[in-house]
Amino acid sequence: MSVKDKNIIIGVSGGIAAYKIPLLVRLLKKAGANVQVLMTPASHDFVTPVTLATLSGRPVLTEFIKDNTGSWHNHVSLGMWADLMVFAPVTANTLAKMATGQADNFLLAVYMSAKCPVMIAPAMDLDMYAHPATKANLEKLQSYGYDIIPATKGELASGLTGYGRMEEPENIFTRIQDFFAKKNDLAGKKVLVTAGPTYESIDPVRFIGNHSSGKMGIAIAEEAAERGAEVVLVLGPTHLQASHPNIRTVKVQNAAQMYEAVHKEFDNADITIMAAAVADFTPEQTAGQKIKKSGDAMTLKLKATKDILASLGEKKSGNQILIGFAMETENEKANALKKLRKKNLDFIVLNSLREKNAGFKHDTNRVSILTKTGKIIDYPLKSKKAVAGDIFDLVRELKVEG
Ligand code: CTP
Repeated sequence: MSVKDKNIIIGVSGGIAAYKIPLLVRLLKKAGANVQVLMTPASHDFVTPVTLATLSGRPVLTEFIKDNTGSWHNHVSLGMWADLMVFAPVTANTLAKMATGQADNFLLAVYMSAKCPVMIAPAMDLDMYAHPATKANLEKLQSYGYDIIPATKGELASGLTGYGRMEEPENIFTRIQDFFAKKNDLAGKKVLVTAGPTYESIDPVRFIGNHSSGKMGIAIAEEAAERGAEVVLVLGPTHLQASHPNIRTVKVQNAAQMYEAVHKEFDNADITIMAAAVADFTPEQTAGQKIKKSGDAMTLKLKATKDILASLGEKKSGNQILIGFAMETENEKANALKKLRKKNLDFIVLNSLREKNAGFKHDTNRVSILTKTGKIIDYPLKSKKAVAGDIFDLVRELKVEG
């Protein structure tokens, strides 16, 4: 997929790098994109709206109210129109407002209304870029799932030299092209994903479960579907659900049902990702009636469940990709590597329970991925959707490599 016919909003804020944006608009227009430029009032001092309107072929919008008409520009419909929003350049001020959700100009109101992916190319003087507040804001924006295009090193308008230069428009253009290209990189592929906990029944009322919400696996299923794959999601008991027409959900309750459902789908799958938190043990017997209280203690006899992932590792063929998760609390990487080898995986995604804002029930996660070829990649805290993106990017990268 290319940028052709894609709706792209370019948000310009008031930094000297704004003088480079006409080139970005020109490149996008030449490639067939529909470009809508939105500007903050301060950015008019650095590049003229007339230049950008001429190159984009659309009026540039800065204010909520249309000139002399008394009517409003609709920030909600613009937000819905966009396939991608690119903020370039972004000043420290606009960055802070984006991180905290302030909408005191038209550009920010559209940003708050948009549902599309967001790219951010900061540009500022080196001390502002290095300030802990800017760093914290960038981290926060990254955790929302946005793609940060880091500032580069070089001569700055202040005369100082260091990090703070906006990435060159040609490189921002390439990044936009890559974004749309990878959007369809799983077309024709079948992806099998498991998500959520399992509930092992003790009696008709009680069960043994775990804290998994299914958010990570659902994000993986949605990311795969958005990239064009046909997805089967085997989902344990959770109130959450995936929403995409390319996802077929098979609901299961316990580890045994998950085993059956996964094996039914596995032979057709090009890529299988086991994100579910499967019970390792299940009651030896499930009581037909509610167990009544008797005495001061009770003993529940458990038996091991089948390790679904290990059984897939035994039967997988050469061109199937198998990915597992590991949840560890100590010797994380060494234990994850053992699981990768033992279960014959292509890679394993390691979650640590020790990380703040990561793991069960959070919308964000901080993972490391270990590959069978010996790579170990540590990722920063990100939205679970962005983690899902990293997983599929790595699948693509490893395929290219070998
Ligand atoms: N898994 C599975 N079937 C099981 C248990 C786990 O398919 N019965 C999968 C999980 O979906 C996950 C991976 O195995 O992808 C690792 O799960 P984890 O609980 O971290 O590891 P275990 O192999 O169960 O080992 P341990 O509990 O000893 O850490």
